[in-house]
Amino acid sequence: MLFKKASEYLSRKKDFSDSTELHVPRDAIAATSRVEESQVLLSDPLSMRIVMDKPETGDVNSKDKPEGPADTASVLRKVQSRIDDFEALDRNAEACLDLVTFREPVDMSTVVETLRNYGVAIFPSVLGEDRLERISRQYEDMIENGAQFAYKVDAREDSTANSFGVWIEREGLPSERFDEVHALFASETISQITREIFAGQAFDFNSALYAQWTDHTSVPASGTLHWDKQLTLKSWLYVTDGGEGCGAMRAGVGSNKWLRYAREDAMFDGVPLRKIDNSVREEDVPVISTGGPAGTFFLFLTDTAHGAQPVAPGKRRNIIRAQSRPHRVHEWAKWASGL
Ligand SMILES: [Fe+2]
Repeated sequence: MLFKKASEYLSRKKDFSDSTELHVPRDAIAATSRVEESQVLLSDPLSMRIVMDKPETGDVNSKDKPEGPADTASVLRKVQSRIDDFEALDRNAEACLDLVTFREPVDMSTVVETLRNYGVAIFPSVLGEDRLERISRQYEDMIENGAQFAYKVDAREDSTANSFGVWIEREGLPSERFDEVHALFASETISQITREIFAGQAFDFNSALYAQWTDHTSVPASGTLHWDKQLTLKSWLYVTDGGEGCGAMRAGVGSNKWLRYAREDAMFDGVPLRKIDNSVREEDVPVISTGGPAGTFFLFLTDTAHGAQPVAPGKRRNIIRAQSRPHRVHEWAKWASGL
C-alpha cells in the first residue's frame, strides 16, 4: 500500500477531505507558538530536549565575543586556529559521535556551538511512542498522497538509487492533517537555533519539506562524500530505524570549519555553479553515522562533509527532512547557475 510506483502516485487525484481524521491527544495541544501560529497545533516536540537559554544568557552571540580582527595577521591567525582545531580533533569515530550526540536535555547555546564547531547535532529517539506513531502515519500519507500537492516528485525507483521522494512547501501542507509534521519542522526551538546560526541574515525557515524512502541500494543518491554548494541548515527525522544497514547519512564531524571557506571562496570568486568541485576525500574527515532508532532527529549544516550510506537488503530508509537557507545564498545560486 505504502510503496507504489511513482506513476501511480502521480496519476492519483485524491481529495484531502476523504482522509481519516487522526486522533489528537488533548494534552498535546499547545496554547501558543511564536512560529506561524496558524500552522502549529501541537506542542514543540523538541522543547523537552533542547532547553531555551534563560533571558539573561539568551543571546549566545553576546558571550565573550572577541572583537573583530583588525589586521591581516590576526585574521589569518583566527582562520588558522579554526583549521588547527579541526586538525586536533580526535579522529576516533566513537569520540566524534559523543561530541555531537545529546541523549539528555541540553542548553540551546550548546547546540548552537556544536553546530558551529562540528556541523551536526544528533538527538536520538526525540519522539515518544505516541508522537512517533502519529508522525509515521503522516509520513505514509505524504508518500502515498503527497504527489498531488508536491512541487517536485523525485521518482528513482527504477534507478540504482532505488528511492522515491516528494518535495512539498511546508506552508502548503494542510495543518490539521499533518499536525505532527508541522509541530516538528516549524518548531520554535529549531527556529531560534536557525536565527543564531544564520546570525542577522534573512532566510527561509524550513520552507521545503522532503519525505523520502530508499529501498535496498548499494549506490544511494548523494552517497559520495560532499558539501552542498548552497549553505543550508537541515532538520532531519528518521521515521523508522536509522541504524545499521538503514542508509543513515554520514557526517564528517568538524569539516565545516574548513569546507565553509571552499564554499565562500566559490561565491566570492563567482565560480559557475556547475564548475564548483564540492567533493571531499574519505580520508580527509572523521566520519560518523547520524543514524539511530526510529524517531531520531538531527540538525546539520551542509558545509559539513556528508553522504548517504547504502541500504541493506530487506531494510528501508524512511525520512522526513526540511531545510533553511539564507536568501543571499539562494540569490547567488540562481545567478551562478546561469553562468
Ligand atoms: Fe548534500
